[in-house]
Amino acid sequence: MTLTVVPDETVGTSFRAMMRKFPATVTLVTGCNEGVDHGMTVTAVTSVSMEPPALVVCLNNRSYLHEMVLCQPHFAVNVLTQEQRPLSDAFSGKVAPEDRFQPDEWERHGSGVLMLAGAHARVVCRRVAAVPYGTHTLFIGQVIDAFVDDVTRPLLYENARYCISQPAA
Ligand SMILES: Cc1cc2nc3c(=O)[nH]c(=O)nc-3n(C[C@H](O)[C@H](O)[C@H](O)COP(=O)(O)O)c2cc1C
Repeated sequence: MTLTVVPDETVGTSFRAMMRKFPATVTLVTGCNEGVDHGMTVTAVTSVSMEPPALVVCLNNRSYLHEMVLCQPHFAVNVLTQEQRPLSDAFSGKVAPEDRFQPDEWERHGSGVLMLAGAHARVVCRRVAAVPYGTHTLFIGQVIDAFVDDVTRPLLYENARYCISQPAA
């Protein structure tokens, strides 16, 4: 017997509305395949494990980066500072992929992927699993390098707007 669950159409709408209210940290995920660099804005990033250290990024199956991360073993997650907000626009479609990387803003990691100079945090991962689900694939990456800047503040995204974190009262 096959059990088919038909989702209530309104749940998708409610879920979208809920996720808009879900504050997220803005990152640029980067990859490199055969000398071609690519990157895109991603908020669906979270830690998975501390031992071994690992995180997950969720990429839309239709994005170019999705193909790249499937083909190549490494990717980087660059957490933007509040001053780097224009990069989020550029890497989410406002700038053509081939024009997104300004050479003076990026450093190449030994693994081959580009890391954003001056980012709030930078993590380089080796892909260890790819789990397709619906419109996206969950890429689990084992962390091979991690850097953090103690001075900068991260850029957040909530309710379709960029914002910055404030210490709670
Ligand atoms: C704030 C913000 C967060 C985003 N988060 C994600 C995400 O977590 N996963 C994803 O697949 N796309 C996400 N996107 C959408 C991609 O950045 C966008 O579709 C991008 O243009 C796809 O890259 P491409 O043009 O290189 O294919 C986000 C966009 C914005 C503006």
